[in-house]
Amino acid sequence: MTPTRRLGSIEITPIGLGCMQFAGQGIIASRFYPPLAADTVNAIVRAALDGGITWFDTAEMYGQGNSERMLSSALRAAGVSPGEVTVATKWPPLMRKASNIVRTIDTRLDALQGFPIDLYQIHMAQGSVSPLDRQVEAMASLQLDGKVNSVGVSNFSARQMERADQILRARGLRLVSNQVQISLLHRTIEDNGVLDAARRLGVTLIAYSPLKTGLLTGAFHASPERVRSTPPIRRIASGLTHRNLTRIAPLIDELTAIAHAHGATPAQIALSWLITYYGDTVVAIPGASKPSQAEESSAAMELTLTRREIDRLDEVSRAVSTSSRAKAAA
Ligand SMILES: NC(=O)c1ccc[n+]([C@@H]2O[C@H](COP(=O)([O-])OP(=O)(O)OC[C@H]3O[C@@H](n4cnc5c(N)ncnc54)[C@H](OP(=O)(O)O)[C@@H]3O)[C@@H](O)[C@H]2O)c1
Repeated sequence: MTPTRRLGSIEITPIGLGCMQFAGQGIIASRFYPPLAADTVNAIVRAALDGGITWFDTAEMYGQGNSERMLSSALRAAGVSPGEVTVATKWPPLMRKASNIVRTIDTRLDALQGFPIDLYQIHMAQGSVSPLDRQVEAMASLQLDGKVNSVGVSNFSARQMERADQILRARGLRLVSNQVQISLLHRTIEDNGVLDAARRLGVTLIAYSPLKTGLLTGAFHASPERVRSTPPIRRIASGLTHRNLTRIAPLIDELTAIAHAHGATPAQIALSWLITYYGDTVVAIPGASKPSQAEESSAAMELTLTRREIDRLDEVSRAVSTSSRAKAAA
């Protein structure tokens, strides 16, 4: 088992479960993934827990609280008590003032049905009618009042992370995390300063879309006709086109070959690479719409890739990932 990582003062497994898939009928997230029945969500959460996962990432925006409710109900159904796992959720800034952060916190806590908010994140740097400084100050006041256990951000640049940490430090707190897109197909943290800033500040980077919304599982290469049946918003977000499938085929081939050597799947190898290559700074939150996917993702924590395999995936992904520095070095 890969050793645990730090989320501020909390110890977490290197892989957590992303819960956008539990959004249900919401406006945005449900356009990525179709609604799941409560029984399926319960089984997914159970599979994650059985696989050793100790933390869960949700958000108000995932179905206007539906994901938070589904997650907390599933944890209860699995016999988990508040405090036994780590729960992260997010405040969506869209068209809202910073004061909304404090005003809506009890609604978030209600949606989580007794589970504490261990990490409260600003979902994105854009969209609020208040400056970022005010938003971070409001988050700090929630932590100081004991409403949340720590503060994080999401989709923040290196400069925005530094500023958020500075504001929190002035109040005796620290920025704990920045949730950004990272995978073998999306390595922009390496050249936009986010990885360097995270290491300097001791901030954990939470990798979202670590499987590039499924592209790195090889499922679309095995059944290219699945592209057409995938919702357009998900297709656009993950660059899911036949041309891209051809372009990244060498990476999928490499993942498949390494997977065979380990008796594993390409998805597990992609996750193992992600939580190994960047060291302790990066943790990953793959999403799952089936219990078997959560089981597979958690089992990736049991794998140990060789130095040669890590380097080979690094090399092959450089040619196909979204990172100018990585490409230049290829
Ligand atoms: N902060 C942000 O702005 C932000 C943005 C996006 C996501 N997130 C978070 O990150 C989490 C994960 O990101 P994501 O859902 O975008 O992408 P992802 O984790 O890269 O992909 C998840 C999808 O990949 C497929 N999959 C997963 N495991 C598989 C396996 N073992 N075999 C085959 N297919 C597998 C499933 O697709 P099917 O459902 O089609 O089977 C699953 O729904 C979300 O749940 C959410 O919590 C945050």
